[in-house]
Amino acid sequence: MKVLNLYFSSTGNTEKIAKQIEKASLEAGHEVETVTVTKNTEVDILVYDFVFIGSGVYTWLPGKPMMEFLKQTRERYGELGEIKPKSPRRLGKRAVVYASFGGGHTGVNEALPAVKYMGQLFDHLGYEILSEWYFVGEFHGRLQHLSTTGRLGNIQGRPNEADLRDVYERVRGILEV
Ligand SMILES: Cc1cc2nc3c(=O)[nH]c(=O)nc-3n(C[C@H](O)[C@H](O)[C@H](O)COP(=O)(O)O)c2cc1C
Repeated sequence: MKVLNLYFSSTGNTEKIAKQIEKASLEAGHEVETVTVTKNTEVDILVYDFVFIGSGVYTWLPGKPMMEFLKQTRERYGELGEIKPKSPRRLGKRAVVYASFGGGHTGVNEALPAVKYMGQLFDHLGYEILSEWYFVGEFHGRLQHLSTTGRLGNIQGRPNEADLRDVYERVRGILEV
């Protein structure tokens, strides 16, 4: 399959996950394109059979460059007539949407909107969303204290080796569906 591995990472956590996704996809024998999203990223999503898309969570939503990318991509495919009423399914096109999040206040609840938001572009385009994944990622910078005082307890060092093994296994598993 042609796999697109799209991600935005501000402080490096999602990047670690995206690298695992790339490794697992390659080792499963697929062709993989990994793209770090910036506000100017333009990708022809429709040429890929399988898309992984992920971002860190910033105030409950994906990071700004990812939001901008989603907006521009939606507008572009809208103009091209690729987003149709009823969003008919595109046979064989599938996606996994994931977030890395710190959950300092309300736990996984504050990551749900980010994943749902990213997923809507693919649902609109007719992709089947096979799964939604949530990975814990420590807070860096001025919110660092939330890595020990938040709803999820001590999340320092996450995603850690065990988390990344989990990513690897999930990717190997889902690519065989
Ligand atoms: C400024 C800032 C705001 C954040 N806001 C949230 C948030 O609203 N909800 C949440 O669950 N995590 C939040 N986080 C934690 C990040 O989502 C988490 O550390 C994530 O793994 C970062 O991914 P990245 O390094 O790939 O950008 C925030 C982190 C920072 C630095």
